[in-house]
Amino acid sequence: MSSAAAVGALAPPRGAPRVLGVARDRRGSRRAVAARASSSDASSSSSSSTTRSSSPTAPSPGTPRVATSRRDVLALAATALLASKTLVAPSSSTASVTASSAFVDTPEIRAALREALVANVVKTKAPAVLRLVFHDAGTYRVASNDGGMNGSVKYELSRPESFGLKRGLGPVLATMDALRDTPAAAASLADVIAAAGAYAVELTGGPIIRVRLGRVDAVSADPENRMPAETLTGEEQRAHFARAGFSTREMVAIAGAHTIGGKGFGEPYVFDNEYYKTLLARPWADATKSKEELDMASHIGLTSDKNLATDEPSLEYVRKYAEDQGLFFEDFGAAYLKLTEQGATWR
Ligand code: HEM
Repeated sequence: MSSAAAVGALAPPRGAPRVLGVARDRRGSRRAVAARASSSDASSSSSSSTTRSSSPTAPSPGTPRVATSRRDVLALAATALLASKTLVAPSSSTASVTASSAFVDTPEIRAALREALVANVVKTKAPAVLRLVFHDAGTYRVASNDGGMNGSVKYELSRPESFGLKRGLGPVLATMDALRDTPAAAASLADVIAAAGAYAVELTGGPIIRVRLGRVDAVSADPENRMPAETLTGEEQRAHFARAGFSTREMVAIAGAHTIGGKGFGEPYVFDNEYYKTLLARPWADATKSKEELDMASHIGLTSDKNLATDEPSLEYVRKYAEDQGLFFEDFGAAYLKLTEQGATWR
């Protein structure tokens, strides 16, 4: 990956009230992920959407779109006015949050953040960093509109499901330290976790995801018992993720994060669609294998991963992503933006 493309991923669109993500596939560079920050309501979390462009003039990876219309310029002015006057009150989150001042995204902030991530997040820590994102953000619940990406994971480290999370938190805290005395010093822990996870995906060869910045950190833990058990059936996982605002498609896409790490879905530090290919091949249930081989294969994946391969609604997307890595990258990028934006309070 060229450093220009890499820097582009964290560089903001000049003057545009939009936050854009660009997903790249390995065959071409034709898919963009766009999450639009609401230009008129600084307190709302932005909606995520995916666009698939077949136009040869589609923006290249990392190339931000620029606001050109009068409407965009007016929206930008409205956002700036709102940002200068409003301190956004916390949403209905049970964790209390503190908002100091409005966050204005600038190229200087993006560049400082990028530099700190490059210096502190190494490939071998990428899986742990990405897992940390899920543990911080996976607490979101639609019904109560609380939890979500707010840095509260640092108060939740003694919970049973948090085993091993310090491995991912280390590089994130080192990045926070490196940001002191830089233009990005005001970035929240939640922002740095979200950006570090996106960088971890990019570093291991996955899509380039441009995360929105400006989250407010919680000052206490999120409610307990919100992380999924690894024994969930496919149906239970769909119900679990629906409570967290995810469709089956989004759930299967974001589950592809397990393609990196030590669970045996291809190379541990290569973000690709091996997760889905392995789920379809089901090596743990291959009758032609010897007992020893089956024993080995039984260590691949969690029970919850394997259950996606036998759950008809999930299997539809497992098949799609096994066939089309570009589609996986695109959907993963969109689901990642959703995961890291839902429930967040914005400055
Ligand atoms: C039903 C859903 C999920 C369950 C039960 C689950 C559970 C787990 C468990 C138990 C591990 C540790 C495995 C080990 O070290 O032996 C793990 C690793 C991991 N999880 Fe999940 N997870 C789920 C969904 C997700 C999602 C949505 C993400 C998205 C960010 C994610 C990202 C990761 C990553 C990247 C690792 C590898 C960490 C490493 O190797 O250091 N997981 N997961």
